[in-house]
Amino acid sequence: MTKRDFFSHLSASWEDRHQEPGELERLRHFSRHFRLQPGERVLDAGCGCGRLVPVICEAIGANGRLVELDFAPGMLAIGRGKPHADNVFFVLGDVHRLRLPDNGFDKVIALALLPHIDDKEVALREFRRVLRPGGLLVIAHQMGREALDRLHNQGGDVIQSDLLPERAALAGLLADAGFSDVEILDEPDQYIAWARA
Ligand SMILES: C[S@@+](CC[C@H](N)C(=O)[O-])C[C@H]1O[C@@H](n2cnc3c(N)ncnc32)[C@H](O)[C@@H]1O
Repeated sequence: MTKRDFFSHLSASWEDRHQEPGELERLRHFSRHFRLQPGERVLDAGCGCGRLVPVICEAIGANGRLVELDFAPGMLAIGRGKPHADNVFFVLGDVHRLRLPDNGFDKVIALALLPHIDDKEVALREFRRVLRPGGLLVIAHQMGREALDRLHNQGGDVIQSDLLPERAALAGLLADAGFSDVEILDEPDQYIAWARA
């Protein structure tokens, strides 16, 4: 099974898993790491079922613009089917080859995406390309690296090798892609990396 099919098949249960009471509040709290500002143009890369849409929209407001991008049609269909404002655009696409213009975003958010990207060098260069100079890439996970790698290891054939790079390796990948001001936070309950284009 391809990774794209794997995630499409996972979409309904991924959506169910994130319907627990308090989920929106937890996500709202976690989203402080995204450092969102009113009016920003944001790419939510590997957006899944669009669970970030409400919190990003609250922060960027009606003058902002949000592109929700994922390569799994099943995930995107669920996201598209939920109520959303008209400054939110759902795009089927692969982060290895973004069909998006240069310098078009203030922020790229990659929540629970990085380990699943087959060629991280290529995708990070694409994120760098679509960010305006000075724009921010935020790589985020709601658990630490060790816990996440354990979870993926037990996740079956398709994702068992989808691991987060170690701190030095990620810093190197980001620098090679042209990012600067890299900060990496790896705590038991969260993993966040920020990098400036
Ligand atoms: C673990 S899910 C996270 C979804 C969402 N960010 C969230 O936190 O709810 C990973 C998502 O990344 C998407 N994905 C994986 N590789 C991708 C790629 N190369 N291009 C675009 N999307 C990708 C998958 O389809 C899936 O929806």
